[in-house]
Amino acid sequence: MISVLLLSIFYMGYSQRQQAICNFEVYLDLDSDEEIVDHAKQNGTDIVLTTSKFILLDDALNILNTYSTPNNGTHTCNLVSGHPLYDMFLLACQSEGRSPYFVAYKKTSNSTYSIFGEYQAVPSILENFNKFAIIGNTLIIPQKNKLVFFTTVIQATTWYIRTTSYILDAQFFNTSSLNVTDFSLSSYQQDQQTYYRILTLDYENGVFWADTIFRSNNLIPFNNGFINVKSSFYISYSSRFRQVVPLNVTQNNTQFIVQTYADGNYQFDYTTTNSYLYLVTTLNRYKDWNPFASVRTQSSIVVIPYQNYQKTVVISLFNIGYRSNDQQMNLKQEPTDLLISASVDSLILYFTSANQLVYRSDFDTLTSCTLSNYNVE
Ligand SMILES: *[C@@H]1O[C@H](CO)[C@@H](O)[C@H](O)[C@H]1NC(C)=O
Ligand SMILES: *[C@@H]1O[C@H](CO)[C@@H](O)[C@H](O)[C@H]1NC(C)=O
Ligand SMILES: *[C@@H]1O[C@H](CO)[C@@H](O)[C@H](O)[C@H]1NC(C)=O
Ligand SMILES: *[C@@H]1O[C@H](CO)[C@@H](O)[C@H](O)[C@H]1NC(C)=O
Ligand SMILES: *[C@@H]1O[C@H](CO)[C@@H](O)[C@H](O)[C@H]1NC(C)=O
Ligand SMILES: *[C@@H]1O[C@H](CO)[C@@H](O)[C@H](O)[C@H]1NC(C)=O
Ligand SMILES: *[C@@H]1O[C@H](CO)[C@@H](O)[C@H](O)[C@H]1NC(C)=O
Repeated sequence: MISVLLLSIFYMGYSQRQQAICNFEVYLDLDSDEEIVDHAKQNGTDIVLTTSKFILLDDALNILNTYSTPNNGTHTCNLVSGHPLYDMFLLACQSEGRSPYFVAYKKTSNSTYSIFGEYQAVPSILENFNKFAIIGNTLIIPQKNKLVFFTTVIQATTWYIRTTSYILDAQFFNTSSLNVTDFSLSSYQQDQQTYYRILTLDYENGVFWADTIFRSNNLIPFNNGFINVKSSFYISYSSRFRQVVPLNVTQNNTQFIVQTYADGNYQFDYTTTNSYLYLVTTLNRYKDWNPFASVRTQSSIVVIPYQNYQKTVVISLFNIGYRSNDQQMNLKQEPTDLLISASVDSLILYFTSANQLVYRSDFDTLTSCTLSNYNVE
């Protein structure tokens, strides 16, 4: 009822500009104590992970298959990521204060998966993490004060996780301390070689970058630096950083968004060669609501969720490819659309195509929206 009321208020406010058409829903069969916790895409299949099962969906939200997760009593599998080199995905299963284990699933036919090899414990990881990344065979796990690189070794009938010597910590970045709140990767090509730039976000100081070369399917760090976003005058010294999202990365240039806890989101353009930092725009916070879950981007569309104290979620959609003259003058951008979800404890939000967005709109509901007129002119 509350959400219906809010919807109509938002609709009146934004109907002039509305470009998101949300006309398709799917209901998932969830128990009352079950939570949706993560999502990943593996070769065109969407994997929606809950605290007790994972559901495979196609881009049209057809449910292809459902499996129970390999929770073991102490550990709950709460993160999922596709493995880019194989028709596989990995679940990370965690328990506060204990080491995690990973479980691999391999495709056996159409939408059928089965557990591949043994469960892999990672005894050197002692702190829970809220995302992990796999690039080639490199697995990156964040801890409070570092990013740790591992190698996944996939054999014919089994696999394992090997440690490496690469650790991105305060010493690596030549700084006094590091408190990692987020990290993200994006690739660029240079001289027929693939590189990945890893943006590592420090709670207090902002963005550290590390360049890695992608060789024999492994990431090897070779260069690093610091982007002092607080020196831009737009971000106050007392700001604390929550998320970093790369937009476009080249050898000497990084375009990215940083999100603070209490203010807004800032889109920057940084040139490494002369340390030139330029604020492109500010993507305004929604009222005094708290930033929530993860920012998503797809070409010029930026999607930023917020939550209030009743746990209602509003998702602000920005089209950064287009700004009116007025917006260019004040360096502030308001959302083009707002999507609303009922009160939920966790959100999933993903693109199924360039202009098709899926989000959790209610406890057991996913909604698909078409974002028309979002193309850059
Ligand atoms: C679950 O697996 C972890 C990692 O292998 C292990 O430490 C833990 O004891 C297991 N819990 C139970 C209840 O078997
Ligand atoms: C991805 O899916 C396509 C179509 O089902 C298949 O042909 C291809 O082999 C898959 N890719 C990988 C890496 O398994
Ligand atoms: C695989 O998918 C195709 C097309 O969707 C279907 O015709 C076929 O029966 C499926 N095979 C299996 C083993 O499920
Ligand atoms: C590391 O930081 C210190 C203090 O800021 C500086 O003097 C030194 O040149 C830096 N070292 C490198 C390799 O950048
Ligand atoms: C480190 O970051 C977390 C947020 O991820 C924050 O709650 C905590 O206070 C920070 N610790 C320090 C010492 O700044
Ligand atoms: C990224 O930036 C480069 C250089 O400015 C440009 O050529 C390229 O088209 C951009 N890519 C995207 C996806 O915007
Ligand atoms: C990046 O900067 C270096 C050093 O100035 C220069 O040699 C290189 O050509 C630049 N790369 C690109 C893609 O502009």
